[in-house]
Amino acid sequence: LSHGPLKGRKSPPVIDVAPVWGGMLAFLAGPMKLMREATPKYGEVFTVPVFHKRITFLIGPKVSEFFFKAKDTEMSQKEVYEFNVPTFGKGVVFDVDHTTRAEQFRFFADSLKSNRLRMYVGMMVKEAEDFFSKWGDAGEVDLLEQLSELIVLTASRCLLGREIRETLYSEVTDLVHDLDKGMVPLSVFFPYAPIEAHRKRDAARKNLAKIFDKVIQARRESGASEPDVLQTFIDARYKDGSRLTNDQVLGMLIAVLFAGQHTSSITSTWTGLLAIANKERVMPALEKEQKDIMKKHGKDLDFDILAKMDELHFAVKEALRMHPPLIMLLRMAQVPFEVETSTGKKYTVPKGHIVATSPAFSHRLDNVYSDPNEYKPERFREPNPEDKAQFASFIGFGGGRHGCMGETFAYMQIKTIWSILLRNFEFEMVGKVPEPDYTGMVVGPTAGQCKIRYKRRVL
Ligand code: HEM
Repeated sequence: LSHGPLKGRKSPPVIDVAPVWGGMLAFLAGPMKLMREATPKYGEVFTVPVFHKRITFLIGPKVSEFFFKAKDTEMSQKEVYEFNVPTFGKGVVFDVDHTTRAEQFRFFADSLKSNRLRMYVGMMVKEAEDFFSKWGDAGEVDLLEQLSELIVLTASRCLLGREIRETLYSEVTDLVHDLDKGMVPLSVFFPYAPIEAHRKRDAARKNLAKIFDKVIQARRESGASEPDVLQTFIDARYKDGSRLTNDQVLGMLIAVLFAGQHTSSITSTWTGLLAIANKERVMPALEKEQKDIMKKHGKDLDFDILAKMDELHFAVKEALRMHPPLIMLLRMAQVPFEVETSTGKKYTVPKGHIVATSPAFSHRLDNVYSDPNEYKPERFREPNPEDKAQFASFIGFGGGRHGCMGETFAYMQIKTIWSILLRNFEFEMVGKVPEPDYTGMVVGPTAGQCKIRYKRRVL
């Protein structure tokens, strides 16, 4: 598979583990542990053998920059994210040629533009207000459970559309749940392995197709136009004038749903847990900001008002710095690929290597962030925000040409939730801040350990 290094350039060092199984075991024991142990020994660039594959890690902002700035012809996503095909469906995203994919990513971008987001925010606010109005005057809740539920409701309203949210909600939610549970770590290497989780995934995908076929057909026939992501995919046209089939519209929707669901519920949960756990230090600024904004704009929330909440923005961003839910981002080297470390060492990553960079590990480097293990939202305040020093310092949303397209959507959603919560409740931790659970595909706080106590109040 791999070409040798270019003349005069070295391949990255290969970590010293038993051949075949060693790298696999080190990898399964947890990529975080592997990076913690390998980085002091090998530096910013090293290779881990896993079966017949080679994974080359790029650690820290200097070498990650090469990852994010690479063209698709140099480092591509298709090969490493192709395991999503049975979940998303045929004919979309990682199951199409490069040109078609580029057009489909334009459809994603169009569906998440700020004029669309302005419409979605109203729906986010309504869902969140209804949801929290059902909380009592005081009580204990598991934040992860509650916020996941709310984000599923919001996503089904803004992405899947009114028909699903109003009449087909529980049926579709159960099917999406089976799709979700059909993605296990084994699926990354063997997406078609004959296991129960995959069988359920495939059945769920088929049933979703039947439901959405009817919904989409009805919209096409009636000419109805709704303010949701579904509508943008129904209306989307390729450059040659052709459009997505009903099944491809669903595939695109599933892709957006999967990109935004756990990532947002996890980040909103960490934001709450970390702000509450550090409440003496962090809450005064957050509460003052809400009070000031209410004084000026009343109780309403919309896109522009949410955009003014800088303190809340930093609180979310800092939660994402400490606990990015996508702990590793992957590509495949399509050509021998050169990188240079912060100490000027040059390596050529051979063609065929999987290339990995890790937001979770990079965000805790103390040469990038001061007190990296402390929750300090103020580090992002002007005039010297700590993430501005280098291009790839803050990579919770990735960066460069494949940076997250849902970043503003995610901030709007999480800020809506916490703005409403801060205005209406005060909080206390029940236990300690949980550890991240690295066994998940999307890494969040350990389930069942996210309890907080709330009391209703008027800010
Ligand atoms: C890509 C993180 C929410 C849509 C990405 C990437 C990251 C990321 C790290 C880059 C992946 C890579 O380079 O391989 C997050 C986080 C979120 C979030 C942490 C929440 C806190 C959302 C939401 C949506 C979304 C809500 C849509 C509504 C996308 C899309 C891409 C993407 C379409 C693909 C961009 C491309 O490959 O060109 N996201 N995301 N994300 N995200 Fe998000």
